[in-house]
Amino acid sequence: MTQTIVIFGASGDLTSRKLIPALFLLARKKRLEHSCHIVGVSQTPMTDVQWRNKLRETTEKYAGTAFDTVRWDAFAQSIHYFMGDVGKSETFDELDAYLKTLEGDDTSDRLYYLAISPVLFPMIVKRLGESGMSDPSHDARNIIIEKPFGTNLESARQLNHDVHTAFDESQVYRIDHYLGKETVNNVLVLRFGNTVFEPIWNRNYIDNIQITAHEVVLVVLVGHRAPYYEKAGILRDMFQNHLLQLLTFATMEPPTRFEADAVRDEKVKVLRAIRAMTPDEVTANTLRGQYGSYHAEPGVDKSSRVATYASMRLMIDNWRWKDVPIYLRSGKGLSCRTTQIVIQFRQPPHIMFNHTIGNKLDSELTMPFFEANRLLIQIQPAEGILIYFQTKVPDTDMLMRQAELKFNFRDSFQDERPEAYERLLLDALNGDASLFARNDEVEAAWQIIDPIQQAWDNDIATVPESYEVNSWGPPSAADWIRRFGHEWFDLCPVIR
Ligand code: BG6
Repeated sequence: MTQTIVIFGASGDLTSRKLIPALFLLARKKRLEHSCHIVGVSQTPMTDVQWRNKLRETTEKYAGTAFDTVRWDAFAQSIHYFMGDVGKSETFDELDAYLKTLEGDDTSDRLYYLAISPVLFPMIVKRLGESGMSDPSHDARNIIIEKPFGTNLESARQLNHDVHTAFDESQVYRIDHYLGKETVNNVLVLRFGNTVFEPIWNRNYIDNIQITAHEVVLVVLVGHRAPYYEKAGILRDMFQNHLLQLLTFATMEPPTRFEADAVRDEKVKVLRAIRAMTPDEVTANTLRGQYGSYHAEPGVDKSSRVATYASMRLMIDNWRWKDVPIYLRSGKGLSCRTTQIVIQFRQPPHIMFNHTIGNKLDSELTMPFFEANRLLIQIQPAEGILIYFQTKVPDTDMLMRQAELKFNFRDSFQDERPEAYERLLLDALNGDASLFARNDEVEAAWQIIDPIQQAWDNDIATVPESYEVNSWGPPSAADWIRRFGHEWFDLCPVIR
């Protein structure tokens, strides 16, 4: 059998930085079909050889020590370039004919990858449909769609509608690279592959959950993306997709099987149980910030009110999570990169021991404070898990102090962890959609984000709070969460 991967947007950054290195690493591990073609489609005039040479340089850079010339030379033979204007319908007939010559008489599964500007998504899927290239009646014809999937609920619904004119939902793979991260998948294994956590994973034992995705990078440094970011802002860029995906893994009910629809049914259920906010609730339950030098970046409007930081408090209206706040926060230009999920447990109902925080007895602290158990899942950069618990300080009269149990992926699994795209491409090639977003899931996520974005857009009297680059976000962030009676867990890095 032949496998063909057709990448629309061949000359783009995503293709050279992520997709080709991931495919190279899969080929290295012999996980691609023996007969595999990778066909890049773009308007830039280029030959196969020119494209291969260009990709060699970038793959060497991004694949790191896993790159080797002999293996690259063998892999490069499977790479082809097709010059074409996706704006013209005849391009698709020509492309189909070209692919058929490459594939010969073999059965050939195809995976189309839209690594191109989202404005072109509807047109490309329509043309793939019209040219018969999406017809799965003989061989698989699947499609991966990159983010952003719409810019609000309405546009996401329209895009789902457009996609479904050419492809059945079972052929569609909406990518969110967070779902390809090993540590994100490990949240499910931690919860559902062990007995000790799940019985206490509910409102009876958990006080609040904090999900953080803090970045050091500035918008301008993320591939000169100011024009995109000016329209997206932090909610569309990080919350609608990555943070809500982390939330679903941390809070969903156990699926009966690890199968695409069983997993996605549970994710949709929990997303739908999140309480939508009124404009007043948005004011009370969200905080937005913008780093000081954002306006000075090329391509940014001098009066831009786009948020580069946000925190929000969400409530899930179901039996498991009633009254347990789920705090989400993310920002750019911060002092430390960390993505983490903190499960903050409740205090024991009755505490009969004195305890110390640092060198202080709790009776000496200005605020009564007890460090209840905490489970910390460090998604990146240093991946691992920590459990905080109280322990007796030796040689004292039943004095206790917080200690930690630490698990570090790097110590237990020496092998490199694969890049998210490697995992996701392989799953899509194998027809496994468990780690891809379904149409109703994407729409449910927009249903949560839309009212917040709209309230922010309509509230023209409020500008995002300014914060300094290399700080820990808006100065009021700590007070903001204290209003709800909670404290952010702010240690970074947590695991070294
Ligand atoms: C992307 C966002 O989806 O995720 C970027 O568009 C962000 O703005 C990136 O920097 C973060 O991904 P990661 O894997 O580095 O956490």
